[in-house]
Amino acid sequence: MSTDSTTTGTEPRDGTPPAAPQPDASQLSSYPAGYTCPPLTTEVMLQHGVVAQLLSAHIQRLREKAFAAFPYPGIALYQFIEFSGGLPSYPRLDSLLSLLRAGGILLDVGCGMGSELRYLRSHSGIPGEQLFGADINPAFIELGHELFMDSPESTGIRQGAADIFDTRPESSWIVRELKGKCAAVHAASFLHLFDWARQVEAALRMVGFLERKKGNFVVGRLAGSRAAGQYRHALGDVWRHTPESFAEMWREVGTRSGLAFDVECTEPEILVFEAPEGEKWSLPAEEQATQFRFCVTVV
Ligand SMILES: C[S@@+](CC[C@H](N)C(=O)[O-])C[C@H]1O[C@@H](n2cnc3c(N)ncnc32)[C@H](O)[C@@H]1O
Repeated sequence: MSTDSTTTGTEPRDGTPPAAPQPDASQLSSYPAGYTCPPLTTEVMLQHGVVAQLLSAHIQRLREKAFAAFPYPGIALYQFIEFSGGLPSYPRLDSLLSLLRAGGILLDVGCGMGSELRYLRSHSGIPGEQLFGADINPAFIELGHELFMDSPESTGIRQGAADIFDTRPESSWIVRELKGKCAAVHAASFLHLFDWARQVEAALRMVGFLERKKGNFVVGRLAGSRAAGQYRHALGDVWRHTPESFAEMWREVGTRSGLAFDVECTEPEILVFEAPEGEKWSLPAEEQATQFRFCVTVV
């Protein structure tokens, strides 16, 4: 269509309707880009379930990414973000918080996406600078930042790649910086990845991070079994504990470390996961899988 700008500017000479101005979406870039959701907007969106749905979608997306990084069942089962089954359900949580409120350092071994570290900081008010996390797979640490939309600078929490079995200061930052300095070591869904001998080694390494002082401790949770023993998994041979076999293992750790421990475990729960829609999932029946929490205190 041709127009003659020398007449009216928009009126075509032949009487056809003027061309409508074309909207230009690229103009958005000339507006301010930043946005902070105002409180009333947040309130209305919460009331409409928008925030809950976005949050669920965000967690589901991170679950897929994390499962692709390594397919741990706890990722598929959303355990990495299930706070109620984590620290709040541990024995002696009050003692742990007292140690940390007195300035004690906590190292989370096999921290994965580091949910418990965020819980301690934002829910329990422990300064991030006292919280450390180590994981052999740095992809999980990155995914943790994506999950919580934070950074080491914004939280003060220090996380980094490290293998618990690496005892060399030249290659392990946790050995260099944290050996003998922690008030508590946390290990969730970690020890059960290994057979008995490797669990003893891992426990000795954890104890090595503790300041050798009465009242310091190792806390965590693990998958066990009503029939303690070695089971074959995709990861290799793994030992599944009862609270009794777990206490026996710590007697061995005590003999080898020259320390004595008090071992407290919660009543093992049968490990069956149920989705809100009623779907259920459990480990193979012959494994008689359980889950329990523990607190191993230096006495
Ligand atoms: C089942 S995940 C549990 C993660 C997290 N603690 C949780 O409860 O959600 C086990 C974690 O241990 C880490 N891991 C395995 N072997 C390790 C090792 N030798 N040293 C340090 N981390 C290890 C894995 O990369 C993984 O993130």
